[in-house]
Amino acid sequence: MTDAAHRSPIVRLAPAKLNLTLAVVGRRDDGFHDLHSVFVPLALHDVLTIAPTGTAGDDTLHVTGLDAGPVGDNIVLRAVGAARETVGAGPWRPPSPPLAARLDKRIPVAAGLGGGSSDAAAAFDAALEAWGALEVVDADRWRDAAAKLGSDVPFFLTGEPALVEGRGERLTPLKGVHGHPGILLVTPRVVVRTPDVFAVFDGARHGAPGDGAVRMTSAHLAQELGNGLSATDLIARAGVLASANDLLHAAAIVAPGLVAVRRALTRRLSRPIGLSGSGPTLWTLYPSLGEAEAAAFDVATAVADGTIPTIGEGPPSIIATTIRTGHEGGTT
Ligand code: C5P
Repeated sequence: MTDAAHRSPIVRLAPAKLNLTLAVVGRRDDGFHDLHSVFVPLALHDVLTIAPTGTAGDDTLHVTGLDAGPVGDNIVLRAVGAARETVGAGPWRPPSPPLAARLDKRIPVAAGLGGGSSDAAAAFDAALEAWGALEVVDADRWRDAAAKLGSDVPFFLTGEPALVEGRGERLTPLKGVHGHPGILLVTPRVVVRTPDVFAVFDGARHGAPGDGAVRMTSAHLAQELGNGLSATDLIARAGVLASANDLLHAAAIVAPGLVAVRRALTRRLSRPIGLSGSGPTLWTLYPSLGEAEAAAFDVATAVADGTIPTIGEGPPSIIATTIRTGHEGGTT
């Protein structure tokens, strides 16, 4: 790679994810949980730009868009640090000068949509490219470093539809969904910390795994998406999928208002409403982006007139997007 290529900014679209199913298979000795979960990437994405700072000093990060908390705590800086460590540990060590990252944050933060994990995977990859070191890091070291950054990060290294097992490190690629079903995402502004949800889950189940029916639904969907499923067939399964999340009840205990919001959305939209990951994002499937956008408008109206309750720190984030198929860009 030429010096000029090193200096040109690298732009990565970091997609959100949705868990169409989430079965908790068991608790592990390391405190994490083994999962069986079907992940699909969404068109909704953050935009990450990385370039060498051109000076000595630390890596920097500038965030625009949604509030992502203190910059010093941002996982993007940790991912760049992890990439530098990985390069430094290899047999051939290209220089890894300080990088300047810019993040345009569009995915709601701490929402069960994997935004931070996706940013981390994008930053890791972009940092390696900025240093001309992509070919220096083999796939195993890359996956290990990703898993250390967070359970969902390995999924975002490819960002393809996948059956995700173990803590998040075992991935089976799936063909996914044909077409572009619309997704409405409603994220109440309540804090739902993932460790709290798993702790409540463990307390309620006394260490036992989740509901066998959720596990069966997840296995069945993984098989179907393995062969490829049409948008129409996916939507026909929305009712089953909306309850195929073992963390639903625990999330509702951590954020009690979530139940009222889910109920009000069900009444307003007359469609099944699911929870992504450990929440608090609630999702609904539509045949097209246009229909999801119309529903977003309807939900915004219902929030404004109080038909859908506002919980936490203000009105929810309401986003219409689509399931992403293949390596396409896309906006909401
Ligand atoms: O790996 P990540 O930082 O996303 O995990 C956050 C927390 O969620 C962990 O500390 C753990 O409490 C819980 N977790 C889990 N099992 C998983 C993923 C996350 O128990 N498979």
